[in-house]
Amino acid sequence: MKVVVSIGGSVLLPEPGSERVSAHAAVVEDLVAEGCRVGCVVGGGGVAREYIGAARDLGANEIELDQIGIDVTRLNARLLIAALSEESVTAPAHDYEGAGEALRRGNLAVMGGVAPAQTTDAVSAALAEYVDADLLVYATSVPGVYSDDPNETDDATRFEELSATDLVDVIADLEMTAGASAPVDLLAAKIIQRSGMRTIVIDGTDPDRIARAVRSGSHEGTDVIPTGVGEEPTYWAADDR
Ligand code: UTP
Repeated sequence: MKVVVSIGGSVLLPEPGSERVSAHAAVVEDLVAEGCRVGCVVGGGGVAREYIGAARDLGANEIELDQIGIDVTRLNARLLIAALSEESVTAPAHDYEGAGEALRRGNLAVMGGVAPAQTTDAVSAALAEYVDADLLVYATSVPGVYSDDPNETDDATRFEELSATDLVDVIADLEMTAGASAPVDLLAAKIIQRSGMRTIVIDGTDPDRIARAVRSGSHEGTDVIPTGVGEEPTYWAADDR
């Protein structure tokens, strides 16, 4: 089983501290010990937003702000690496080839952002496509894909399952709504559609939920099952579900 796990910055570091980081690192290591190959993509979270806000006030342009965001995602990735006892990863990969090589060498890769004008949502989808993953898991602070922003609208409903084309449509609609936050951005949705990648979007604040989703496909978020996607990973033993 080869899986890419996207860990949002606010999931890993809701506030500065080590507790969440070590809990998520432990789950990643357990999965690797069980024979899973795991690519982790770490987001920037509140720290990225604060740095970007300060730099914007100082007059930095959008590309410069993105570079700062990328640096923070890599900083967060380093924190995850610090919590791992695996010796195979010493620094975040800076591109997909580096991450692919790390996965082949040591069954584990950790990276943050890659290039301006996107987010780690898209990086995660692109890494999953590049390494031909069996599964992509978005561990976000929203418990799935909703018809509307659940923080803003009371009657927002969660989709249990979507095709990739439906995901693109739902996210495009959400992104048209000023201020609404989508759990996955449009570029990521389009890469998922293009690659036909089986994807799960879950609340990843409790890392055990990530482990359960990877081990058995069982979760309370949203399944994105593109048309023509192959059989379920054989790794998912029916009796675990
Ligand atoms: P995130 O992936 O954390 O962005 O990257 P986000 O979606 O805004 O964060 P969450 O999910 O709400 O917590 C932080 C910032 O880093 C830059 C972007 O500016 C992004 O907003 N970034 C990241 C890039 O420019 N390129 C990348 O490949 C990754």
